[in-house]
Amino acid sequence: MKVQFSVNGKSVEVEAEARLTLADCLRHKLGLTGTHVGCEHGVCGACTIIVDGAAVRSCLMLAVQADGADITTVEGLSHEDRLTPLQTAFRRNHGLQCGYCTPGMLTTSHALLTNEPDCDADRVREVLSGNICRCTGYVSIVEAVLEARAAYRTDAEEDRA
Ligand code: FES
Ligand code: FES
Repeated sequence: MKVQFSVNGKSVEVEAEARLTLADCLRHKLGLTGTHVGCEHGVCGACTIIVDGAAVRSCLMLAVQADGADITTVEGLSHEDRLTPLQTAFRRNHGLQCGYCTPGMLTTSHALLTNEPDCDADRVREVLSGNICRCTGYVSIVEAVLEARAAYRTDAEEDRA
């Protein structure tokens, strides 16, 4: 089936079998391998992307269901060569080690901070509880997300102005 959607600001059209997951479509048909696949059944969060503003597990969505959607993958978080404030905060706070979970952590956190730039540590932990990390122990990840809130607050203020 032909499927059309926007990914990281670019309109794409792919030919997808009905059973192809969106995660595999992004990785194998579009070369967007920043989206990682771990459990393939919605438990680990590594495959999280942003679909129409919401954090979504791309292993649980079929490519054909993405028809007409506006998708952002981890590659689309930064529009320039520089790291985003969220990525910088992850680096500064040692919020990653092997990096396997990191794309999902970043996309989930980005969706959270976009909608709730004033979230507290409990809320960050709650939202990230669906993202498994085997390396960091989570403390540094939560600290990174909390640190990045300031940048999202500024964005929200600029949007209101
Ligand atoms: Fe999708 Fe684990 S690969 S949630
Ligand atoms: Fe290794 Fe999270 S940094 S799984």
